[in-house]
Amino acid sequence: MTEIPEHLLKRSASRRGKKPADGEGGGEAAKEPGSAVAPAQAAGPVEPPAIREAAAAVPRDPDPEPPKPEPAYVQAAKKRKKMPMWAMAIPALTLLWAYSFAGTMQQPEVEDPLFIESAALYSSQGCAGCHGAGGGGGVGYQFSNGEIYATFPEPIAQAVHIARGSAAITGEQYGDPERPGGARVAGNRGVMPNYPGITQNELELIVFHERVTLGGEDPSDPAYEEWMEHMREVAEGVLPDRPIDLEFFLACANPETTPGATGDVDPNEQEFCPGPLLETEEVASE
Ligand code: HEC
Repeated sequence: MTEIPEHLLKRSASRRGKKPADGEGGGEAAKEPGSAVAPAQAAGPVEPPAIREAAAAVPRDPDPEPPKPEPAYVQAAKKRKKMPMWAMAIPALTLLWAYSFAGTMQQPEVEDPLFIESAALYSSQGCAGCHGAGGGGGVGYQFSNGEIYATFPEPIAQAVHIARGSAAITGEQYGDPERPGGARVAGNRGVMPNYPGITQNELELIVFHERVTLGGEDPSDPAYEEWMEHMREVAEGVLPDRPIDLEFFLACANPETTPGATGDVDPNEQEFCPGPLLETEEVASE
């Protein structure tokens, strides 16, 4: 047992002499050792007087000040409900969800109006209904995983096919003659409707969506980037849009991949052909 230092014992004795200790709990310890010990205390384990004296000696504010009221903001903070454990997982889960979403969309350029508008046209024109929202195919062919540019190595051939549809060329071969698995033949899978009523810019945007966003074609080629810039400028009204002119498209297209194409576009008109600008020799040559 620890010894009670002499000075403490003295101090406690002097305090005892002065006044009874304050109400709470102090009364007992303040009592004269040996005199009028409470029965409950007597019955309990014997408490050596020295301990009680020491307890009484512990300096105690005789008249403790009431605790200062806490500032309003502290009280508010204490009252506020604590965030439950499960709620703490929400930010992490949100991040995970965003990541998985980004993975399925495969388009980091979602901010670019070119991607947004072309995607909107693809669904508003009904293409998604037959070819799938993600281009996975359905009634019509699949576009994703490069299927679309396997059929049409150049966007112009694809633009002609969409504008004209497949009924006008039933039984004819179209697209890349060397296509893996055999060249496409119009009508083999049903009927692709024609789209003569949309504008050239709308058509080009749809072609772009099918090739880049759905098909996964790399648009980083300079000629491709120029085409994208051109589509943006027309969509923004900086350059004029034009109605679809199938005759002119056929002059732009390569007869090797497009039935009815002539490939004899006037070099001065070439810049109005849908798709990236092709080299004049390429267009002219077979
Ligand atoms: C009513 C269903 C339907 C709609 C709507 C539709 N297509 Fe098609 N599409 C088809 C079918 C069926 C084929 C195959 C036709 C054939 O066998 O010649 C096809 C073929 C195609 C092809 C040729 C693909 C290849 O690899 O040979 C392209 C490109 C295409 N569609 C684009 C579009 C676009 C763009 C739109 C919207 C503007 C669209 N389709 C709307 C049913 C549809």
